[in-house]
Amino acid sequence: MRVDDIRGMFPALARQVGGRQAIYFDGPGGSQVPRSVADAVSNHLLESNANYGPNFITGRETIAVVQEVRRKLAKFLNCGETEVSFGQNMTSLTFAFSRALSMTWQVGDNVVVSEMDHDANITPWVLAARDRGVEVRVARYDREAGTVTKDEVLRLVDDRTKLVAITLSSNLVGSHVEVGGICREVRGRGVRVFVDGVHHAPHERIDVKDLGCDFLVCSAYKFFGPHVGILFGRGEVMRELNPYKIIPASDAEPHCWETGTQNFAGLAGLSAGLDYLWSLGRDKEAGFSATFDYIRELEAPLVDRFLERFRELKNYVLHGIAGSEGRSPTFAFTSQIESPERLAKRLGDQGVFVWNGHMYAVRLVDALGLKREEGVLRVGLMHYNTVSEVDRLFDLLEGL
Ligand SMILES: Cc1ncc(COP(=O)(O)O)c(C=O)c1O
Repeated sequence: MRVDDIRGMFPALARQVGGRQAIYFDGPGGSQVPRSVADAVSNHLLESNANYGPNFITGRETIAVVQEVRRKLAKFLNCGETEVSFGQNMTSLTFAFSRALSMTWQVGDNVVVSEMDHDANITPWVLAARDRGVEVRVARYDREAGTVTKDEVLRLVDDRTKLVAITLSSNLVGSHVEVGGICREVRGRGVRVFVDGVHHAPHERIDVKDLGCDFLVCSAYKFFGPHVGILFGRGEVMRELNPYKIIPASDAEPHCWETGTQNFAGLAGLSAGLDYLWSLGRDKEAGFSATFDYIRELEAPLVDRFLERFRELKNYVLHGIAGSEGRSPTFAFTSQIESPERLAKRLGDQGVFVWNGHMYAVRLVDALGLKREEGVLRVGLMHYNTVSEVDRLFDLLEGL
């Protein structure tokens, strides 16, 4: 599929602002969706709208939607179907799960978080640790490496460490973390690894078996779907835990981890979003790995163009990794002259959608020596963006 065909599947990309086509560089805040996703949400609401469980056709259709999306997600993440549960979003899932996991911690234990993470993978653990009298250790962002290194995380792990909570890639500067290496090092030492896959999911294959993590969260609205949170929990580990649940809710895996009524229309949309991703893979034998091979192929020239043009730009500072390796196509930068807010507004007025601020990665903004109230300008490239869109961004920045 060529990028023009892909773009044709995303109706939002045709939007005009001031007579020119809008440019969506806001992917890390939430990607756009193919029409098939919106149709699936709407069809579910209009034709199969029922709660989970009743003995009539729409109820059975709802059950089928949930079963089908679990089956597809098991392929997407390379895990078992009963290892996938759903919730409102990543933040809510992490808060709820932190409650159950922290019941296994004792005074004198410790947990490791990283200052590069989105706060949704920090504060739930900090609060749980406070409640249980457990120490929190913070892995530092290495400015030279542009990331949190494996060595830095492992330096903090000892025989009282119960958890490492770490992201696969930063939603602010785009840098990857060597999560697979961390999992391999701590395996068998009683340390659980909880991975934030939210920013990684639209760009790279996430194979939880290959990673070797215990838990992983992601959010469908970041990878071309609607607002649904997803939690992977390794079966044998989940069965050791007591979920926080109400009495009539099912005790069976994975339903015992799902609080209240799920967003079934959203799950129908997620199912269509996974079909879209599947359709991008050229080698169906390779499954979703082929999807992400193609996505990386589409993203690579965008990253190269961005970096090439950035090097020519005067009075701007790029934060994080300066090259194209070890990163997602997400860039954070500041101007030495203009505030991120003013820049974002001026670009927004021209139909170029970029975010400004801290993106909830507040500790990383501190580590970069920036002000939380100002933050950065963030440009997030997606596989549906084009080199000419990147050029228009830089033409505008040069003119501002
Ligand atoms: C890396 C990362 N983690 C976690 C979150 C929180 O996700 P949610 O909005 O699903 O709670 C975000 C949202 O921006 C994110 O980018």
